Formats: sequence, structure tokens, C-alpha cells
Amino acid sequence: MSTQKLAGKVAIVTGASKGIGASIAKHLAAEGASVIVNYSSSPEGADRVVKEIVASGGNAKTVQANVSKKAEIERLFAETKKAFGRLDILINNAGIYQGQPAGEITEENFHAHFDLNVLGLILASQEALKYFGPEGGSIINISSVVSTLSPPGMAVYNATKSAVDGITRTFAKELGARKIRVNSVNPGLVETEGTHTGGFVEKFDTFIAITPLGRIGQPQDIAPVVVFLASPDSGWITGETHYVSGGLR
Ligand SMILES: NC(=O)c1ccc[n+]([C@@H]2O[C@H](COP(=O)([O-])OP(=O)(O)OC[C@H]3O[C@@H](n4cnc5c(N)ncnc54)[C@H](OP(=O)(O)O)[C@@H]3O)[C@@H](O)[C@H]2O)c1
Repeated sequence: MSTQKLAGKVAIVTGASKGIGASIAKHLAAEGASVIVNYSSSPEGADRVVKEIVASGGNAKTVQANVSKKAEIERLFAETKKAFGRLDILINNAGIYQGQPAGEITEENFHAHFDLNVLGLILASQEALKYFGPEGGSIINISSVVSTLSPPGMAVYNATKSAVDGITRTFAKELGARKIRVNSVNPGLVETEGTHTGGFVEKFDTFIAITPLGRIGQPQDIAPVVVFLASPDSGWITGETHYVSGGLR
């Protein structure tokens, strides 16, 4: 008998070509899940993640889809069903974060953040409801410590993650009767491709200074908590925000 916690399960990880999503995909696969590695514009990154999973004896496939677009989300789920035949776990990880002080917020910046971080997460969750079976499912939303920490210069991004926490609590209440659990994981500052290209490296020292455990995070600090929330070990946990932030709140 398999000792893997997710043997026979199928998971979609949005935005899994890099960073936190890539690590989540690898950790889910290591526990036996078949994983769809979604990406938007980086096929090389997504291929690397799949190759690594397969080389370790796991099962994974890439699917390109911009998850701020309903039609592409529908195709992502249809391709998942075609590839692996079922769906048990949805990780809403794809997200963007750009700093903009109050006076510089633009309509474009607002819509880009909300279309992906909030609307895409809602539409993907909605699509998952069509595919989860009678045994239910687990939706894990990658939120952020910023939803309550509210660092300056990031009002729009902070607002998207506050919305994610609210959606998590509400969907958990709506979907519990279908055995669908909905939780969020709220990372502190994590070293990823996104934090490097987005200029957040300059903020590492500031964040280290206010983080009780005295360091910024790595993607592999986040992924095991996601695996726990996807697995039966967390079977009586829903609607919660789980801070994985070295104690930063
Ligand atoms: N890093 C942190 O400090 C931190 C802290 C708290 C929360 N988070 C959250 O964690 C999540 C991942 O962050 P990260 O730092 O790992 O990001 P990252 O390194 O920038 O990677 C982002 C991933 O999302 C994908 N993506 C971007 N736009 C997409 C779209 N429209 N459709 C589908 N996929 C898309 C990218 O794929 P392509 O390259 O193929 O486009 C990439 O795989 C985000 O929700 C972020 O808000 C991050």
C-alpha cells in the first residue's frame, strides 16, 4: 500500500513554472499526486518543473493558460480532465505584485492585479466545482501576509490579497456541504524569480529585521504547508488563513 498522502489524486497548480508554484507542484507530486503545471508565458520553466517531477518518479504535465481569462481557465480544466481523468486539488497560486504608491495607482495596474489575483482565482474555483467528484476537494489560495501587514506602496496588491482571504472564508462556508475545503496560505516575503525581477531584493533586509525568525522565506518553506492542506491530514480545517511567514504578521 502506498504511504504517499496524495496517491491517486489530481492537482492543478496555477502559475507553477516558477517560484512558490513550482515548489508546490514538486511537493504535491512527491506525495503521489498527478500535477498539472500551469504557466502563462514561460514554457521553459514549466517544462523544467515537469522534467524534475518525472525524473523523481512522479506524474505531471504542462498546460499553458492565462488564468485571468475565463475561456483559458475552462480549457485548463478540460485539458486536466483529458490528461488525468479527475480533479481533487486546486492551488490558486498565479499572482502578480507590483508596487505603486497612492498617487501613482493606475486603472491598468488595478485591473491587471484584480483580474488575475482575484477574478482569476474566483473563476478557477468556480470551474473546479464542475470537476470535483462526490468525495469533494481542496482549494488552496496563495494569499499573502500583506493582507493584514499592509506594507506601504502596495495598496492595490494588498487589497487583492485581503479579497482572497474574504473569498476563502465565504467559499468555505458555501462549499463545506460538498466536502470541498477552502483555505489560504499567507506567505511572508519569499525569495522567488518574481521578487528578484520585481526589485524586492532591496527590501529583503527590511523584512528580515521585522521577521521574528530572522530570515526571508524560500519556496520550500511554503510548499509543505500546502501539501498538508491538500491532504486528509487537514480534513477538518476549512476557511482558515495560514500564515507561513517566519512569525511576521
Ligand atoms: N514571493 C513572495 O514574496 C510572495 C509572498 C506572498 C505571497 N506571494 C504570492 O505567491 C504567488 C506566487 O508568487 P511568486 O513570488 O512565486 O511569483 P513568480 O516567481 O513571479 O511566479 C509567478 C508565476 O505565476 C505565473 N503567472 C503569472 N501570470 C499568470 C497568468 N496570467 N496566468 C497563469 N500564470 C501566471 C508565472 O508564469 P509565467 O512566467 O509562465 O507567466 C509564474 O509561474 C503569488 O500569488 C504571490 O502573490 C508571493
